[in-house]
Amino acid sequence: MQNKSLKSKMEPLAWLFQIITAIFLVFFLSVHLIIVHAYGINNILFQQILLRLQNPWWMAFYIAFVVSVVYHGINGLRGIIIDIGIKKKKALNSIFWIITIILIGYGIWLLFNIR
Ligand code: HEM
Repeated sequence: MQNKSLKSKMEPLAWLFQIITAIFLVFFLSVHLIIVHAYGINNILFQQILLRLQNPWWMAFYIAFVVSVVYHGINGLRGIIIDIGIKKKKALNSIFWIITIILIGYGIWLLFNIR
């Protein structure tokens, strides 16, 4: 195991998206935490959450949040496994793409079907 950043281990594009999603996450997490913690309990009542999701801007916000956090988390985990020194990298990549697509699909499905 080497003590280097993901940049030296990952494909350049995968690393670039890791950094871009990290920057997005700072914004998404900040907005999310402010809404949940700074504006009182009324903001996270179930009915309020449903109402917020009627707004297309909030829907776009949460879809982008789901895509960023799933890509960042799963791709980061992939980086850790590559770092440990896996031989079957192609198989690893396929498995991680399948997991990423399933999680993003499920997250977006939930956003549209929560009642
Ligand atoms: C504001 C939020 C976040 C920021 C700013 C951030 C930033 C970063 C950056 C810059 C890297 C690349 C490090 C490198 O090049 O070695 C990274 C890696 C990683 N991130 Fe995040 N991250 C955030 C949230 C998250 C979340 C929510 C998860 C889990 C779902 C996560 C999981 C990971 C993993 C597993 C790695 C790989 C770690 C490694 O190689 O040692 N991160 N993160």
